[in-house]
Amino acid sequence: MDQLANTPEDDGHSAETLGELSKIIRDRNAVDAYAHDKEWRGPFCFVQGADPQFGMIDQWDRKKTNPDEIQWEEDMQLMRKAVQDINRVSPIPGFFVVCGDLVHEFDVNPLKMAQERDLLRILSDIDPIVPIVLIPGNHDILNTPTSGSVKHFEEVFGPEYYSFDARGLRCICINSQYLKDFPEESTDLFRELREKFLAWFDGEIDKAAADLKSGAIEHAVVFQHIAWFMNSPDEPTDYFNVDFEIRQKYLKKLIDAGIKACFCGHLHRNGGGIAGPNGELDVVITSAIGLTLELNSDGQLVRGKNPSGLRLVKVDKSKIEHAFYPLGEMPDKVDLRH
Ligand SMILES: [Fe+2]
Ligand SMILES: [Fe+2]
Repeated sequence: MDQLANTPEDDGHSAETLGELSKIIRDRNAVDAYAHDKEWRGPFCFVQGADPQFGMIDQWDRKKTNPDEIQWEEDMQLMRKAVQDINRVSPIPGFFVVCGDLVHEFDVNPLKMAQERDLLRILSDIDPIVPIVLIPGNHDILNTPTSGSVKHFEEVFGPEYYSFDARGLRCICINSQYLKDFPEESTDLFRELREKFLAWFDGEIDKAAADLKSGAIEHAVVFQHIAWFMNSPDEPTDYFNVDFEIRQKYLKKLIDAGIKACFCGHLHRNGGGIAGPNGELDVVITSAIGLTLELNSDGQLVRGKNPSGLRLVKVDKSKIEHAFYPLGEMPDKVDLRH
């Protein structure tokens, strides 16, 4: 953790180091929070967000490349609004999950670590009773993860993939970069990491299937950065979806296992759809907490006019319902009855 402890403190931000903030947030992880609260005890809600991506407005939209000029105050303002929304919801959300692209800078360097520190500091303003679940996105762990990128993510935010049960809901948290293939970047190590991940994921799907069947859990969902598909299960491979072949294989596995929903980000606008012969699986893409995107008339990605926001998910014994709310519009009171 030396690298984290040595984060410079004289850059005008808080005196708290990345290492200290990382510990505060990692202590609020859902695995520990639900260690003795794994079984169903009635309906509850949680909040999902994606892509706060501190730095994107300057680095992507304004195309700034000089680290001395890159700021992320606007991105932080959006995240602060998100935190206000989460803290206002009643009943208190069961957890808050961020489905990747926590910050924009790819490389592990002082710029990335300053962005991460600011994100963690704003997250620390969430009511401490709400566990925080952070999923890796391509900006956090690279398009093709390396031992260095995985090590940095795990030191700052926690494990790159794991699962936990919260009040009868099995939550499988994955690193979706292992579902993509960037052949030009692929290395033996990446293939090894991917094999290890896929073996774990297969085991988790089988375990969820068995536990759903036995009634040990009520529902199972997946949290991931890149969605299986943007609009339709049969669409071709794209930067914004999981590669076609691996997608078909896993959609079938997830549907057969009885997994109800996959909550995703990466697209910076809402999307997704239903998969399965009877619409068994809901693939849900939540727009960004930070900068949103849209396609212009030439089909190019540009800054979106669609609002940044959060998704509120209601978990009932018989179903899982969700709705997207622009920042500032999350309801104060959630009716958990259907
Ligand atoms: Fe993103
Ligand atoms: Fe992304």
